[in-house]
Amino acid sequence: MTDDRLLRVVLHGLASSPKTLPPTLFYDEAGSGLFDRITTVEDYYPTRVEAEIFREHAVEMAMAAADGAARVVMVEPGCGSGAKAASLLAHLPAVAYVGIDVSVTALTAGASRLEEAFPKVTVMAVEADYHEPFTLPALPEGRRIGFFPGSTIGNFDPDDAVHFLANMREIVRPGGRFLIGVDLWKDPAVLRRAYDDREGVTAAFNKNALAHLNRRYAADFVLAQFGHLSRVDAALGRVEMHLQAREAVVFHVAGRRFSMAAGETIHTENAYKYDIPGFGALAGRAGFQLRQTWTDAGSRFAVLLLAA
Ligand code: AVI
Repeated sequence: MTDDRLLRVVLHGLASSPKTLPPTLFYDEAGSGLFDRITTVEDYYPTRVEAEIFREHAVEMAMAAADGAARVVMVEPGCGSGAKAASLLAHLPAVAYVGIDVSVTALTAGASRLEEAFPKVTVMAVEADYHEPFTLPALPEGRRIGFFPGSTIGNFDPDDAVHFLANMREIVRPGGRFLIGVDLWKDPAVLRRAYDDREGVTAAFNKNALAHLNRRYAADFVLAQFGHLSRVDAALGRVEMHLQAREAVVFHVAGRRFSMAAGETIHTENAYKYDIPGFGALAGRAGFQLRQTWTDAGSRFAVLLLAA
């Protein structure tokens, strides 16, 4: 998102009732570092459990996704360093890998690591925000396999998730496959804790949205005036993150004045959690069929294979 467009979204969100900020604000350099730390804390289970599923089933997943094709082209939106793709590429008849990410640093470092590890695979890096339309380079023939691990799909509202999946279906084309990580609904106390870990890293990550605004748009948030809040909405099937004013506050962003009453919140993120049939139905709205599922022993997380 350009600086201007992001600022418009921010100002609109802060003027709304209830107040909102877009989750994309988490991810400046400091926030990306905090997110990496979140993935290692005990209370945040998704990354750890997904990695366990990949470790155990990578060969089977790769075979099911290739489904007999002699040539495969893998496309990964939001690839970061592409480290998760490597565990599958090792078992796929891949001729090309396309990583799409906004972070050029992560992209370039990741692309050269993959090129080194898989000399027969053409590695292409596309610098783009996959939330917006992007153009793919010309790709070689082969079954296209989309890859979207990490349960990032949970950060889309369901209608936006359908829209994103429908775009991915266009990209993988008929006969293509999509391998996606989905966090599953579970005990609300466990879910709430995952988004308010006892080490306080998620709280720092959430508050970094305000620090980011201070740095980027010369805003004047006093971080100590805000608390981190995670709450579960069982009816909507999601965990919400908020920043809650600890007292009456006044702040400015890009010269605009805003105020909040004590206890009022800014809603910063949703993380939707699914059950497998529910996610299958959502994917069905985007024209995908659920082919196969892999989960951990505790059914906390699932990796789903969808067919276009
Ligand atoms: C990136 N995404 C999958 C994370 C999640 O679990 O929703 C973002 C996150 N927010 C707080 N902790 C992690």
